[in-house]
Amino acid sequence: MKLLMVCLGNICRSPLAEGIMKSKLPEIFHIDSAGTISQHEGEHPDKRGIATAKNHGIDISKQRSRPITKQDLEDFDKIYCMDLSVYEDVISMAKDEEQRKKISLFLEEAGETGNNTDVFDPYWSDMDGFEKVYQVLEKASSVIAKKLQAQ
Ligand code: 4NP
Repeated sequence: MKLLMVCLGNICRSPLAEGIMKSKLPEIFHIDSAGTISQHEGEHPDKRGIATAKNHGIDISKQRSRPITKQDLEDFDKIYCMDLSVYEDVISMAKDEEQRKKISLFLEEAGETGNNTDVFDPYWSDMDGFEKVYQVLEKASSVIAKKLQAQ
């Protein structure tokens, strides 16, 4: 089972989501992350995200940002988007219904509804913002990891 976590820059939210999901699932799950923009390609995650994950015993420091490709929509079984605008960008890359069905909002998959389905972007925030995002991702990842393992 191959899971792809997607945000805008692949330096703040999706690297944290990748690290947290990896900590909750066995290695049979292949977990990666990507961004919808290529501006940060090759960069490590944001230092504040690396520090926040480290505070929780998770190492995301070796990850590198990369843009999502059409091939990813072929290769991955599930593509989790961090907010609605990312979701719309990824959906627009899908070539057919089979690919569209793989794409979802991460928080919606975790049971959130209404106005609570976006993981807020901590890019213009501070360490406190990253910790808040970490908590949101941690809670959602627990729900999704359980769902995936029950399948
Ligand atoms: P991310 O955060 O999508 O969670 O990685 C951002 C990273 C970079 C930018 C915006 C958001 N940016 O504008 O460069």
